[in-house]
Amino acid sequence: MTVSTAEPGTFTGTALPGDSSSLHRVVQDLARGVRTAHPVRDTLANQELAKVLSSWDSAPAPVHPDALVAPLFPEPSRAAGVPFLPKERLLSREEKSAAADAFTRVLESCEFTSGPAVTAFEDAVADYLGLPCAVATGSGTDALVIALRAVGVGPGDEVIMPANSFAATENAVFACGAVPVLADVTRPDGNLDPESVAERITPRTVAVLPVHLYGKLADMAGLRAVADRHGLGLVEDACQALGVTGVGQYSDAAALSFNPYKNVGLCGKAGAVVTGSAEIAERCRVIGYHGFEPGRKNVKCEAVGLNARIDNTMAAIGLALLPWTSLRGLRRTYLARRYVDALRPLAEEGVLEAPAFAPDHSWHLFPVLPAGGAAARDALLEDLARRSRVESDVYYPVLTHRQQTPVRERLFGQAHLPRTEWLHNRVLHLPLHAGLSLGEQDRVVEALYAATRRAR
Ligand SMILES: Cc1ncc(COP(=O)(O)O)c(C=O)c1O
Repeated sequence: MTVSTAEPGTFTGTALPGDSSSLHRVVQDLARGVRTAHPVRDTLANQELAKVLSSWDSAPAPVHPDALVAPLFPEPSRAAGVPFLPKERLLSREEKSAAADAFTRVLESCEFTSGPAVTAFEDAVADYLGLPCAVATGSGTDALVIALRAVGVGPGDEVIMPANSFAATENAVFACGAVPVLADVTRPDGNLDPESVAERITPRTVAVLPVHLYGKLADMAGLRAVADRHGLGLVEDACQALGVTGVGQYSDAAALSFNPYKNVGLCGKAGAVVTGSAEIAERCRVIGYHGFEPGRKNVKCEAVGLNARIDNTMAAIGLALLPWTSLRGLRRTYLARRYVDALRPLAEEGVLEAPAFAPDHSWHLFPVLPAGGAAARDALLEDLARRSRVESDVYYPVLTHRQQTPVRERLFGQAHLPRTEWLHNRVLHLPLHAGLSLGEQDRVVEALYAATRRAR
C-alpha cells in the first residue's frame, strides 16, 4: 500500500465531512492503495473517525487494506456460525461504557424527561448533517408523524409512499388520519419512482413520502420536481439513512431513527426530524409536545399535540454515542465494498445481483437478488442456515398492500406494483452490521458460493 498525502481523494484542502460520500471515497482510496490523509471536520459525530484516520498516518504500510482496517473489525469470541444481527454486539465495549457513564450522570441529576441534553443532542445531529434544525423525538415513527403533520397532512389527505418499507411508514400516515397511496419503485434499488408517483396524484394528495430503502437515497431531485409541479409536501423517511449525502437537502423535512438496530442506535427508542426550515422545526416542537407554545409552560397554541419528544435520558446517551457515528459508517461502507467485490463473479455469471457500491448509501442493510424467484431465494436462505450456519433474512416479509388487515381490500385492493413485487420475490439480506468481523463476512461469502454452486 502506498501512503499518499498528495492525492488523498477528493478532499484535499477541505475537511472530510463524515457523510456517506466522503466515507465512500475513503474506502475507494483504501481499495486502490491510497490512505486517506485529511483533516476530519470537527463535529461530535466525527470524533472517533478522526482518531482512526490520524492513526493511519503513522501506521506502517501494510500489504492489504484489510490489514490496516483489521482493528476496526474484532473477531467475536464465540463464533458458532454467523448471526444476522447479534444483539450483544449492537454496541462495542467502549460505547457501552460511554452510555453507562452518561446514564449515571442523568441518574444523579434526575433530569429524566426534559433537560439540557435534548438541545445539545439536537445541535450535534444538525451540525453533523449540515442542516440548520433538528427536533429530537421519542422514535423514528414519532418523527414521521410529526414531520407529516408539520407539512400539513391531516385527516382524509392522501400521502404517496412505497409498499416495501417497515410498517412505521404507513402507520405514520394513518396516525395523521390520512390515507397511504402506494406507488411503484425503481429497480434494482427499490426506491420510489417519481413517474409512478406522478401517476398517483389526485386532488386529495398532500405529500410524498419516499423511504431511503436499506440506506440508499431515493431519487430526491426527481421527487422534488414532481412535488413542486403539484404543490405537494415532501417528507423523507430517512430512518435507515443517517449520514447519507443529500438527506434533508431536497425535502421539507426528514425523519431519522436512532433505535438500537439502526446505524447509530441508542439504548432505547429515539428519533429526530431534521429540516432546513426554522418554521417547520418550530411546528414540529409544538406538535411533538402537547401543542404547547414554545417557551411557555403548559400554554397551548395548537389544538392537538403529542407527547413524543426525546427524553433527556436518551438524549444524554445519544450525546455519549454520537462520537462513533461516522466511524460506524466507515465500517459498514468498508464491508459493503468488500461484499460487492467478492460477489462480482457471481453477479457476472448471472447467479445473483448485488447492489452498486454507491456514495449515497448508509449500508443499513445489504440486499442481494438471487436469480430464480421466491422459491430459489427461500431455498438459498435455508441452505445457508442449515449447511453453513449463516443467517440471512428477508427483512420485510409482507408488503404493505399484502398485510392482512381490515383496510387491505378497501385501500390496497387495486394496487398495481409490478416492480415492487418483482424485487420483493427475490430480495435476500446478508449480515451487515457495525460489529460484523471480516472473518465472518468471508464465511458468508464462502457459504454463498457453495450454496449457489449446489443449486445449479
Ligand atoms: C424505514 C423505516 N421507517 C421508520 C422506522 C421507524 O423508526 P423507529 O423504530 O425509531 O420508530 C424504521 C425503523 O424501525 C424504518 O426502518
